[in-house]
Amino acid sequence: MLRIGMLTSGGDCQALNAAMRGVVKGICSKRDDVEIYGFQEGYKGLIYSNFKMLTSRDFSGILTIGGTILGTSRQPFKLMRVPDENGLDKVEAMKHTYHKLNLDCLVVLGGNGTHKTANMLREEGLNVITLPKTIDNDLWGTDMTFGFQSAVDIATDTIDRIHTTATSHSRVFIIEVMGHKVGWVTLHAGIAGGADIILLPEIPYDIDVVVEAINKRKAAGKKFTIIAVAEGAISREDAKLSKKELKEKKAKQKYPSVAYEISERIQKKTDQEVRITVPGHTQRGGSPCAYDRVLATRLGAAAAEAILDGDFGCMVAVKNRDIVRVPLSEVAGKLKYVDPESDIVREAKMTGISFGDK
Ligand code: F6P
Repeated sequence: MLRIGMLTSGGDCQALNAAMRGVVKGICSKRDDVEIYGFQEGYKGLIYSNFKMLTSRDFSGILTIGGTILGTSRQPFKLMRVPDENGLDKVEAMKHTYHKLNLDCLVVLGGNGTHKTANMLREEGLNVITLPKTIDNDLWGTDMTFGFQSAVDIATDTIDRIHTTATSHSRVFIIEVMGHKVGWVTLHAGIAGGADIILLPEIPYDIDVVVEAINKRKAAGKKFTIIAVAEGAISREDAKLSKKELKEKKAKQKYPSVAYEISERIQKKTDQEVRITVPGHTQRGGSPCAYDRVLATRLGAAAAEAILDGDFGCMVAVKNRDIVRVPLSEVAGKLKYVDPESDIVREAKMTGISFGDK
């Protein structure tokens, strides 16, 4: 008997179901003697032994469905070693559940924080295989995460829709795209949607450069300007502050989000009206795009192969179009940022997009 535990952890994204389906179909095509334990709401289910017994039938018909049939939750890595309100040692509890159920391995679908805990469980002696999910595409060790392309499509669609109304008005439109620490979705959706200005956490902006780009467009007879801004975009002044100083400053300013701060600064320096659109969680919702369905299916099947090989302690990942296994010890705790000097940023600048950095 092969006993597999499975969980989805952290913020959800499109194609989680497609990836789990890939794993289960991959294993069940080779083995009949499989038991699947689906832990509910991420690591919480493993900690509190909350699971459902699933069969391969539960994974049929879910390729195109967004969300996760297992549910998910955020369980911050830094709190994993802190006992819960009843004094329960969470790490010991997870190990206990795993051993009590006699699991052969744990399949974990998650992003950055999830991978830190997955690696810790590996260090604690559990057999762990992970799959890279997140709309942010910020997971180190893989060229691509599933969820990313679907989110880019949605954010692009938002920019497209804004474009048509923007042509009717002389206004500046700000679209705030998800991504607190990294700007991959904003960068790709910004380029795909034809944004005039793209502001990313990795490239601190100078508000005067942003205003200059807006004025230049106006002087050239362009009625509107579209700005794609990542949730974590940061000004040059703020980038110089310590984490604590920045937190205090933001608390005093009380802007609902970065788009509102940038909007106010633009309005003070130009005669242009500004409108804000925040697509928010729509970017994580709905059916996965075709690219993500293919990627998630491939990664799922590759995870199944690794399990059948008994090769644990790794994440299945994309490297130069191939699916590879990357040791969890190499992945955990590292982020994949947009490189301000990368080709894609340089090419975007060549087409006239401003990143607010001169
Ligand atoms: O990590 C994915 C992500 O969608 C980020 O881009 C976003 O900032 C965050 O999650 C939102 O998290 P939550 O769903 O917890 O509000």
